Amino acid sequence: MTQYGQNKAGSFRYRRPEHQKQSFFSVMLVFMVSIMLPLAVQVEGEPNALCTGCHNEDGNSVTPEFPKLAGLDAVYIAKQIKDFKNDKRVSEIMGPMANQIPDKDIGLLASYFSKQKRSVGIVTDQQLAAQGQQIYDDGIVSSAVPACSGCHGEKGEGTDKFPRLAGQHTVYLITQMNNFKNAVRNNDPRKVMRAITMRMTEQDMKAAAEYITSLKGE
Ligand code: HEC
Ligand code: HEC
Repeated sequence: MTQYGQNKAGSFRYRRPEHQKQSFFSVMLVFMVSIMLPLAVQVEGEPNALCTGCHNEDGNSVTPEFPKLAGLDAVYIAKQIKDFKNDKRVSEIMGPMANQIPDKDIGLLASYFSKQKRSVGIVTDQQLAAQGQQIYDDGIVSSAVPACSGCHGEKGEGTDKFPRLAGQHTVYLITQMNNFKNAVRNNDPRKVMRAITMRMTEQDMKAAAEYITSLKGE
């Protein structure tokens, strides 16, 4: 009988019965190497299956409540994971998830998702999107709301500090704006987003989100 076992280091052992031919061993060696390769790549930065269940393999979640992570800067992603772990950003869903990520894996996960290509969102109301573009590009003078583009980029591409917004789900965008407004989310440095959303109406937020989801980030 041929036996396979897995030792503690995760590599495969093969115990070859004495009577079997060398050629069979060579075939098995190729087979073993081929199954070990994907294992090694996985360790190097494939996303945790835990994350992809909600955020998808390519970082473009298909559930509007779960943010797309694809194309967010790795520094921003790492900050958010640490904020969830330290309860600086409170979420009943993400808190327990972040607590399961060892500190040494934060960088790997952040790098993986940052390298994925962000998909574009779906606009259902062109008129609303046009109002949103005005807010995004020029702000709202009467209520002293600054242009979003000033920080998040003209195409919503974002930076390491200002998250990429382009193509993000409208539901998630509106939830986050309300979370800032109600100080449910408090992890924005110098309270920038809390100050801005305080001056925005529900209609302003919906319009901004409808335009932002159409952006390609380039
Ligand atoms: C059960 C679904 C679920 C799972 C599993 C999950 N997340 Fe999340 N994730 C969410 C939700 C919901 C949010 C938004 C939280 C909030 O309300 O602030 C989020 C937010 C995030 C954010 C912030 C994104 C942004 O734009 O600010 C990051 C980063 C993130 N998740 C990474 C991960 C990683 C890494 C894993 C795997 C260890 C993971 N998530 C697993 C649901 C999930
Ligand atoms: C002065 C800079 C600045 C301006 C202007 C600005 N933002 Fe932000 N925004 C930020 C920062 C910083 C964060 C991330 C905070 C953090 O570290 O979690 C953020 C986060 C967000 C998020 C959460 C994204 C995510 O992935 O969770 C949304 C949504 C958002 N901003 C929308 C807007 C909109 C809409 C406007 C225009 C009305 C705007 N922002 C203008 C600085 C800015």
